[in-house]
Amino acid sequence: MKHKVTIKDVAEEAGVSVTTVSQILNGKGARFSKKTQERVLKLKEQLHYVPDFNARNLILRSSKTIGVLVPNIGNPFFSTFFRGIQTVCRNAHYLPLVLSASNDEETEEYYLSTLVERSVDGLIIASSSVTNDTIDNLLKPNRIPYLLFDQNQTHDDGDRVQVDDYQGGYIAATHLTQLGHRRIVVMLPKQPTENLQKRLRGFIDGLLADGVYFSEGRDLVYAPLTKLGGYEHTDEVLAKSPTAVFCANDELAIGLYRGLHERGLRIPDDISVMGYDNIDLDEYVTPRLTTIQQPIMELGEASARLILNRINDLEMERQLVEVPVKLIERSSTGKAK
Ligand code: RIB
Repeated sequence: MKHKVTIKDVAEEAGVSVTTVSQILNGKGARFSKKTQERVLKLKEQLHYVPDFNARNLILRSSKTIGVLVPNIGNPFFSTFFRGIQTVCRNAHYLPLVLSASNDEETEEYYLSTLVERSVDGLIIASSSVTNDTIDNLLKPNRIPYLLFDQNQTHDDGDRVQVDDYQGGYIAATHLTQLGHRRIVVMLPKQPTENLQKRLRGFIDGLLADGVYFSEGRDLVYAPLTKLGGYEHTDEVLAKSPTAVFCANDELAIGLYRGLHERGLRIPDDISVMGYDNIDLDEYVTPRLTTIQQPIMELGEASARLILNRINDLEMERQLVEVPVKLIERSSTGKAK
């Protein structure tokens, strides 16, 4: 046989109709004789027939896929988040498709509309480029279930999984002030998304509660949320002579590690460094990185559960899940000198 084996091939070999084969293979063949059922199932194996998912989609109007839009899959935060989604989807027989546009808004929009054209059953959106406008003009009119997460900052009545970023920033500040730090630099992107703004706000309030004043003009260093961002802005950090640095994510902190190491500085003896996220790499850098934990796998699992709930019931009430954060104290922060 030169072409891919089709249901028609199985039907012809078995001497029955395509509908009969379809019903038997879909477990609805009870009304056919045992002999016919066995013959069809045996031929399926013999001919190595694999059902055509596209044909099935046309009938069921479901592709059993979930699109996942993340800003940067190169960041372990988002790959771990995706692993959480995969675990839940697999049990529910859905296939998650991850698309990452490296923070490029045009590409993110392209991916979104392509996913919609390909009839995804639902979308998990962690990117900031999907705005209220897109939701109102594309997702809502087409009744496409969606779940918002992390850097997505639309103010919308859609389902959302969120972490308490304000609290995360606050806890980070308290940890550093308790170690006696007063001159602290924060590294974060120039145009922080709302979750990062909350993180910063919590941090500033946490410092204030312990009598430390933070000046955005004086104490902020802008850098993209990447290892390179942390590395390339090392001199700017050092120019401010801090005793501690709070990085808006772990990748930034790991990049800064290299910059500090190359300048002969020791962490935490000369300078304390703190991250945010708790990616797996934190345990493998020297010294192990102190950070604020977001339960990343659980966030992925919760997102998948919520979107599956929504797919099953478009009319259900809004789902809003808030997940707590906590301090993971390792070896990169120490007493201020
Ligand atoms: O590391 C990626 C960061 O961007 C995380 O802190 C996450 O919350 C996101 O906004």
